[in-house]
Amino acid sequence: MAAEQSSIHGLWRNRWLFILAATGSAVGLGNIWKFPYITGENGGGAFVLVYLFCICLIGLPVMVAEVMLGRAGRQSPINTMTAVAKDLRLHRDWAGIGWMGAIAGFLILSFYSVIAGWALSYIFKMGGGAFEGATAESSGEIFGALLANPGELLTWHTIFMVLTIAVVARGVNAGLEKAIRILMPLLFVLLIMLLGYALSTDGFDQGFSFLFNFDASKLTGESVVVALGHAFFTLSLGLGAIMAYGAYMPSDVSIGKTVLAVGVLDTVVALAAGLAIFPIVFANGMEPGAGPGLLFQTLPLAFSQMPAGTVFGTLFFILVAFAAWSSSISLAEPVVAWAVESKGVSRIKAGAWVGFSAWILGIGTVLSFNHWSDVTFMGKTFFDSLDFLTANIMLPLGGLMIAVFVGWKMKEADVMAEVKMSNPVLFEAWRLILKYVAPVGIAFVLWNGLQ
Ligand code: PFF
Repeated sequence: MAAEQSSIHGLWRNRWLFILAATGSAVGLGNIWKFPYITGENGGGAFVLVYLFCICLIGLPVMVAEVMLGRAGRQSPINTMTAVAKDLRLHRDWAGIGWMGAIAGFLILSFYSVIAGWALSYIFKMGGGAFEGATAESSGEIFGALLANPGELLTWHTIFMVLTIAVVARGVNAGLEKAIRILMPLLFVLLIMLLGYALSTDGFDQGFSFLFNFDASKLTGESVVVALGHAFFTLSLGLGAIMAYGAYMPSDVSIGKTVLAVGVLDTVVALAAGLAIFPIVFANGMEPGAGPGLLFQTLPLAFSQMPAGTVFGTLFFILVAFAAWSSSISLAEPVVAWAVESKGVSRIKAGAWVGFSAWILGIGTVLSFNHWSDVTFMGKTFFDSLDFLTANIMLPLGGLMIAVFVGWKMKEADVMAEVKMSNPVLFEAWRLILKYVAPVGIAFVLWNGLQ
């Protein structure tokens, strides 16, 4: 297959910029906000182990496949899949992988922006000293008051969506890449600081064993689905975000090593967030299963008890917002890139449409925390349903189809030439995972978990 050497959207200047951008996409609310609270809801250690297992055995191999497909097609995921399938004389329905991904990305963007809005609002709450001298109770009340106020939620949702689209409309690399280069390391430093604090609390042992003690009795079919879904969500897999970024990757870069770096960084941030949060939960007699508010109720408490906590707390939520920002642009990128390629519209126009529509849908998520909190579908609110449908069903299904496509439909020689893995044993192992382990594993988990 003759890969183009370039894409109309540009290329990353080198391997590191790809790692930076892909890490920017992977590290986001999924690591800092979602991982700790779903771990709490699903009973801790056993869930973490299944999650790690899914990352290594399914997530990373699918990520290599996704980047490889992107680079082979050099276009938006929808057009990449169409082009690669055409090259191989396969049915054009394979473009469905790109379509489903684009829809999933759009749906996720709609609620991601609302949650990122919480982080934005916390920058000002923290900065204004709202948490000085906070207790578990008062911290819960501040968060409760935010959720109960649709106007406030909507304002932050709007601001975050505008920020996201402003970047996507300009093309990805210009400003954000530079910002992430400074902000990501800072995020690490702050997380380490929080870890240090967590270590000094009485709850550390309890927090640690909650995260790492394996108790199989706590695992349910649904929690395994959630673990698998989160492995996809946190690595930005299954919807084409990483495929879109792969399309801008220089041709001579080895994909395997690059992907590994992204996967390790992503996992380390999630575990660090968990290790920072649970000790504080236990030391303050809070509930690990508190749900989506966990991060927003525990960390302000920790900061309120530290010297200069207001400054560090404010900085922390700025960084959470940045991490979310660099992820949300990758949610919009596949759809926007497709519109630019296929509809001939400008990035600004495409971005405005995508952003506006996702913003409208986001209003459903805003309301699901207040006026519509009793409106449920199979026990799930609007937000819960969207989250479950996208992360736990659409992304794994997208991953399954990608694995089948690369494992079964592409010729080994083409795959080998594109992926540039120098170790033949690793290459064979990867192909076997894509052919058998990933599709069977994903199908099995989905089938059992959704009964
Ligand atoms: N990986 C991001 C996070 O963990 O917050 C969320 C995400 C971004 C999911 C991009 C999917 C995606 F395509």
